[in-house]
Amino acid sequence: MNNKPIALLIHGGHIIDPSQGLDETDSLLISEGKISWLGKGKPPPSCPEYDILHAEGLIICPGFIDLHCHLRQPGFEEKETIATGTQAAAKGGFTTVCCMPNTLPPLDSKETIDYVKSIAAAEGVVRVLPIGCISKGRKGEELAKLDELASAGAIAFSDDGSPATNSRLMRQALEYSHDLNLPIIDHCEDTALSQGGVMNEGTTSTKLGLPGIPNAAEDIIVARDLALTRLTRGRLHIAHVSSEGSVGLIRRAKEKGIMVTAEVTPLHLTLTEESVIVHATNAKVNPPLRTRKDIQALIQGLKEGVIDIIVTDHAPHTEADKMLKFALAPPGISSLETALGSLMSLVHAGQITLTTLVAKLTREPAKIIGNKYGKPGTLAIGAPADITIFDPDMDWEVDTRAFTSKGKNTPLAGSVLKGKVMATIAQGKLVYRDDSIRIEAKVA
Ligand code: DOR
Repeated sequence: MNNKPIALLIHGGHIIDPSQGLDETDSLLISEGKISWLGKGKPPPSCPEYDILHAEGLIICPGFIDLHCHLRQPGFEEKETIATGTQAAAKGGFTTVCCMPNTLPPLDSKETIDYVKSIAAAEGVVRVLPIGCISKGRKGEELAKLDELASAGAIAFSDDGSPATNSRLMRQALEYSHDLNLPIIDHCEDTALSQGGVMNEGTTSTKLGLPGIPNAAEDIIVARDLALTRLTRGRLHIAHVSSEGSVGLIRRAKEKGIMVTAEVTPLHLTLTEESVIVHATNAKVNPPLRTRKDIQALIQGLKEGVIDIIVTDHAPHTEADKMLKFALAPPGISSLETALGSLMSLVHAGQITLTTLVAKLTREPAKIIGNKYGKPGTLAIGAPADITIFDPDMDWEVDTRAFTSKGKNTPLAGSVLKGKVMATIAQGKLVYRDDSIRIEAKVA
């Protein structure tokens, strides 16, 4: 695979770029790592020599941006590394990934942020933007040095995996978020209420005899965080929304002008609690997969803009981790490589449009990150050449043995998805290509 910057004409694809309102068949030239021309037919003779990638029948869009994934390095390299995680991201069409700080040590200091950045620069194949901790050691007791983390390059703060349980600490964090203009990403869970729960509380948990986590465990903290955001005029981002109640609370908060954004995962949009019956620990995730009613509310929220973005919450674990008893197995699903295929099922079923889907993976997360780190999320001339090319109609079977991620933990193993990433270009480099993609070399 050529992963040097290239001059490449992506010819004749269907370009969807919500940042510019583009939805048409066109060609796109990239050179010197940037988008350099966009139009019909061939670029003008003044352009450099280029190779051609034939994209007829394929969708061309800005590279996907994942505001929430777990790359596990440092500390849990048996589950994933920055190298394998970013390769999996490339295969899933992601050209920017924001990694959560629940590593060992957690990303709560300048040194740890610098470490992730240096490994990402040396071994990562897509852009990696680290998220710093809210609290020192993710212990929820004392605020981390958020200004120091921001100067080191943290693009947001989160204790993901755990909520910021202490309301005073959350208030302080939101005050900093206002001053630093960076979001606090909260994993909303009332842990006193969810304690001991291992899946959604409902008919399936009763049938299986497993302790449940009610929707209220999420709704309570969402409501608290919204109240604190109103108080502080901070920037709040709600992680992995899973409940109908949260969608309603966020909708009302947005109507009142509270600075809140929210995300949802492909799995919470497509799978119900019943997945646990068949897939056991591979369907264990926190927050848990919920019900059809919740899914309908999440999709409605996505369409209305109540939920701003889609994230993978890629959470790789080892096979040994997931072989444990249900109560002991860690929650999380390996999702970078299946995200598009899962999400396309919503498009094929007419539940969201392709343009909405692309916007939620590109333009909208780019707005949350801002322009400080390149200009992701657009195919505008002069922007870094971050491009995803996918076949919206290709059927493929999820074979976890073929995953690039070390995490094979997914309830989608063996299922057939319709919609597949065919090539990914990150900052002008071809970082992933399906075997069927043809590139014609050097045309003047
Ligand atoms: O299911 C989850 N897994 N939810 C989280 O919040 C954390 C994540 C992980 O780190 O494995």
